[in-house]
Amino acid sequence: MANLTTLGQFIIERQADFPYAKGELSRLLRDIGIAAKVVNREINKAGLADILGEVGTTNVQGETQKVLDVYANEQFIAALSAGGECALVVSEENEEIVILNKDVSKNAKYAVAIDPLDGSSNIDVNVAVGTTFSIFRRLSKEGEANINDILQKGTEQVAAGYIVYGSSTMLVYTTGCGVNGFTLDPSIGEFCLSHPDMKIPRTGHIYSVNEGNYVHFPEGVKKYIKYCQVEDESTNRPYTSRYIGSMVADLHRNLIKGGVYIYPTTAAAPKGKLRLVYECNPLAFIIEQAGGRATNGYQRILEIDVKEIHQRESIFIGSTDMVLKAEEFMAEYS
Ligand code: AHG
Ligand code: MN
Ligand code: MN
Ligand code: MN
Repeated sequence: MANLTTLGQFIIERQADFPYAKGELSRLLRDIGIAAKVVNREINKAGLADILGEVGTTNVQGETQKVLDVYANEQFIAALSAGGECALVVSEENEEIVILNKDVSKNAKYAVAIDPLDGSSNIDVNVAVGTTFSIFRRLSKEGEANINDILQKGTEQVAAGYIVYGSSTMLVYTTGCGVNGFTLDPSIGEFCLSHPDMKIPRTGHIYSVNEGNYVHFPEGVKKYIKYCQVEDESTNRPYTSRYIGSMVADLHRNLIKGGVYIYPTTAAAPKGKLRLVYECNPLAFIIEQAGGRATNGYQRILEIDVKEIHQRESIFIGSTDMVLKAEEFMAEYS
């Protein structure tokens, strides 16, 4: 057990990274870590407990809600409410914003966007799923929080991260001073620093895209996929195709090994499928902080105007050189 740094210790040690925060952001991150452990516990026994399958409701995206989508949503919101630092939550599973900690004496300063359970289609088949979160300081200084507190560009995030519930469970986060990863040690129930100062390789040989939608992709994406498949020794092509269908897990693998993840526009999703506020922005912040790149094929994700809480966007994210190459094809053909 020598030299183990827990998430709690690390957050306190790094308090100096955000001196204005006076401990509130640290407590908020701690609250997210607590909810992650509770959700992890349920996911780990999903096949035993009666928590697989669908609830029978749909969310605002028209997606069928799984029992664990709803459970994870409740757990994260409960932890953010109890912690007292969060004034407003946007969640994939709630059509409207959720106002928390209305008691002004609590002076909650933060707004949080979450995808409580990413990769819903993988829950029932024991494949890795995730959570993403994005944290902003409220714009409104007093009174009840309002929607403008969360409709901020990704560049304004003060922290963001993800949890991947995989063969082990990891929490990866950034406060804008690099990226650090923590692995849950189930024997002591703590996230412990396992991946300090994570950096994504400048290039890689993995491309991750749902090729079943190929016929509906923009011409630039079609041409880029063909480029990935062409034999060329100098660039280590053909690349390897890897697609889990849980964006967090796909991103986590590509962050460690190098690679590009693309979810472009399709016929079913003419503006892209993934949600800017709680999927694209937090992951773009992480990947940029790890030295990678995240765009919609033309524009940096973090600079896109946020108009609606459930707004969708295309995403090209991962190793800088691979994203740049895909952008070249977009510029030429789309
Ligand atoms: P969610 O499960 O939170 O609704 O997100 C689903 C997203 C993302 O996790 C995944 O990468 C992508 O949808 C998969 O979409 P396809 O099945 O269309 O490839
Ligand atoms: Mn969903
Ligand atoms: Mn998702
Ligand atoms: Mn989800």
